[in-house]
Amino acid sequence: MSTIIVTGGAGFIGGNFVHYHLREHPEDRVVCIDKLTYAGNLSTLAPVMDNPNFRFVKLDICDREGVFALFEEEKPDAVINFAAESHVDRSIENPEIFLKTNIIGTATMMDACRAFGNIRYHQVSTDEVYGDLPLDRPDLFFTETTPIHTSSPYSSSKAGADLLVMAYHRTYDLPVTISRCSNNYGPYHFPEKLIPLMIANCLNDKPLPVYGEGKNVRDWLYVEDHCKAIDLIVRKGTIGEVYNVGGHNEMANIDIVKLIIKELGKDESLITYVTDRKGHDLRYAIDPTKIHNELGWLPETKFADGIKKTIKWYLDNRSWWEEIISGEYQNYYDKMYGNR
Ligand code: NAD
Ligand code: TYD
Repeated sequence: MSTIIVTGGAGFIGGNFVHYHLREHPEDRVVCIDKLTYAGNLSTLAPVMDNPNFRFVKLDICDREGVFALFEEEKPDAVINFAAESHVDRSIENPEIFLKTNIIGTATMMDACRAFGNIRYHQVSTDEVYGDLPLDRPDLFFTETTPIHTSSPYSSSKAGADLLVMAYHRTYDLPVTISRCSNNYGPYHFPEKLIPLMIANCLNDKPLPVYGEGKNVRDWLYVEDHCKAIDLIVRKGTIGEVYNVGGHNEMANIDIVKLIIKELGKDESLITYVTDRKGHDLRYAIDPTKIHNELGWLPETKFADGIKKTIKWYLDNRSWWEEIISGEYQNYYDKMYGNR
């Protein structure tokens, strides 16, 4: 039996990964550490809380003493670092916490890996470290050799973390890998992000705030396909390598919003164009050739099916997101969208 430490497991992708891992590898023990920031929800982990192979520990990945004590106790075989401040709009308002969690937190986790026997470390990163691509060059894609060229405090903090991960490999021989994935969607996605925000607002007949003209393009991947890719990289990936993960599923924001409106039987008059995001990245598009050729990974969920499944999940799990949008989130929403 292996013990895997998963950080940020009360969040969107980490939570889906915990469920995936316990289901696919029942022989492993999963220890989730999460600070439970505004983005962390214990209700996401409720279905596995009683699983004897699962343990939840409320802990900040920047808390060196706490992290080292946990490593001493658990003696993990691998660490997968999902924990991060993840929302671009929040990073524009207040970059500092992004630098702390995303950079110092990553270094703290890797220092613990070094201190306890050079433990296998995987960094969950993002395609946003490559910056953006022009809208009029559909032939261009991000590969693993595309230069790092960030736009937002969020992407810069993730890029800083990636550079540190590669430095720990080169300097200390830490056995690391990095995955850089495109935008995910699926269950347990916090409703401040495009797809769950539009679903929740649609269901509540609230305006759908589209930034700028809605022409920005993202490359959407169903979250479970991302979980599979990470699992493959951790087990079979080449140490010291970066793997891009993406589904060749590019869509303009406005088309996603219209699709959600249609699926929910609402009216396009709900669409409200609002002031654009500062420094808004135009287009992300991943070339996933490397992970396909080396590890045989391919996305399995088509967007048309994934978005239906996702919408159904939000309809079937209203209490999960209604609880979120009724709390502190409302202050955030009023501040972000009030005068936009
Ligand atoms: P999320 O915001 O939904 O979840 C982040 C989780 O990390 C939360 O549970 C939060 O409580 C926890 N956390 C935050 N700061 C912490 C700290 N200091 N110590 C411990 N826990 C802390 O984020 P997500 O969308 O699930 O993203 C997970 C990872 O995947 C991030 O590293 C993100 O950069 C990356 N990523 C996300 C996407 C996407 O589309 N969402 C795409 C590519 C990569
Ligand atoms: P988001 O889900 O924040 O992900 P990211 O910025 O990391 O790609 O946003 C996805 C796209 O949707 C991005 O181009 C910004 C846009 N967007 C809106 O138009 N309206 C919104 O209310 C939000 C949250 C995002």
